Amino acid sequence: MLKAILSRKELSENAEFYSYVVDLLDCGDVRKLNDFSHHIGTSRLQHSLNVAYYNYLLCRFFRLNARAAARAGLLHDLFFYERKTHERIQNRHPAEHAKIALYNASMRFSISELEGDMILNHMWPATPHFPKHTETYVITVVDKFCALAELSGYFWRRLSAKFRSVQKYALAKFKSLRQHG
Ligand SMILES: [Fe+2]
Ligand SMILES: [Fe+2]
Repeated sequence: MLKAILSRKELSENAEFYSYVVDLLDCGDVRKLNDFSHHIGTSRLQHSLNVAYYNYLLCRFFRLNARAAARAGLLHDLFFYERKTHERIQNRHPAEHAKIALYNASMRFSISELEGDMILNHMWPATPHFPKHTETYVITVVDKFCALAELSGYFWRRLSAKFRSVQKYALAKFKSLRQHG
């Protein structure tokens, strides 16, 4: 079951969106993104699906290129290393991973100029080159929004688990006090 964060809808239920990305999802290397963590508590595939879906929705709403938005969203972080343990790239990751993702995507799929700009400049303004297309400005916002939602979701889950264990402990304590008092 593939769903985007904050959405209850199965992604395949959106026939248009799914038709734009189904060939990418069939690729083993794209599915391999599930083996890498991203933004604590999320897999890179889930993050990419989140960006692809909201990028698609927003571009569709503004009558921009929704197909390119969905495809570039799914491929924008197509790199195969753990950010924290990759010694060579560690300090240069923000600038370098977009170039690596574009290279990896171009090696596997036919990438349009627009999709290439979206992948290469999705980190703007953390990278020096200005986006060339409106769709690229959209992905820079969607990528940051998804990262924030993923991090908030992670901390919310942690907080809820903590609260539940404190509640359980307090209840057990209360029961034992009643039995012995
Ligand atoms: Fe990225
Ligand atoms: Fe990203």
